Amino acid sequence: MKTLDDVQDDNYIPEYANSDELENWIFNNLSEGSKILEFGSGTGTIELAEKYNVTSVEDNEEWLYLAHDSTYIYAPLVNDWYDWQALDILKNETFDLILIDGPSDLTRRTGVFDWFQANPKVFSNAILMIDDNAMESTIELPALFKDAGWEQIHQGLSAPIIEKQNFSQLEPHFGVYVQNHECPECGEEFNRSDDMIECCANL
Ligand SMILES: C[S@@+](CC[C@H](N)C(=O)[O-])C[C@H]1O[C@@H](n2cnc3c(N)ncnc32)[C@H](O)[C@@H]1O
Repeated sequence: MKTLDDVQDDNYIPEYANSDELENWIFNNLSEGSKILEFGSGTGTIELAEKYNVTSVEDNEEWLYLAHDSTYIYAPLVNDWYDWQALDILKNETFDLILIDGPSDLTRRTGVFDWFQANPKVFSNAILMIDDNAMESTIELPALFKDAGWEQIHQGLSAPIIEKQNFSQLEPHFGVYVQNHECPECGEEFNRSDDMIECCANL
């Protein structure tokens, strides 16, 4: 069984793990047992998997199976993002929260948007968390989701780049986003598609 000793080598960067603020936001806003899909796993996965039903997409074999309670999907990088074929197993699933903290190269993270567009059902009930969302090199991804109708409901630590110019690249920060699903019968809006479907179903 894999242990921390197996990953704490020369490439180990403690700051890569989810920040306490990010983790606490999840603990305070997501009920225990909820389903989380994370892109990019690490030591932070161990704590999440103690409370939640976690599925971890991971491209680096060294980081597979560290959290014994998480379900790992090994998806090597193909054309700059995770192998879509490896993710096929997810296409009929839904999650309560989707956390984007991989691949490790920040400039490769926009690939998740194409996958979202091809698999909207997977995201239909989810809160979206984008780690490192406010760097010059990463602001494209939240902008794509916002253009597609996602609304930002929280900014962790750093203000978005437009309001704060000189923050350190290592300063932890994250954004939280939701979709609005409008009931076609009554116009009420819901963040979870399943709640919208139930809205006027029994009239
Ligand atoms: C930012 S890390 C993801 C960290 C994860 N969200 C966590 O809380 O531990 C992105 C990628 O870097 C690798 N990785 C994870 N933890 C690492 C660490 N402490 N040091 C170096 N690389 C790490 C994995 O391949 C992972 O997919």
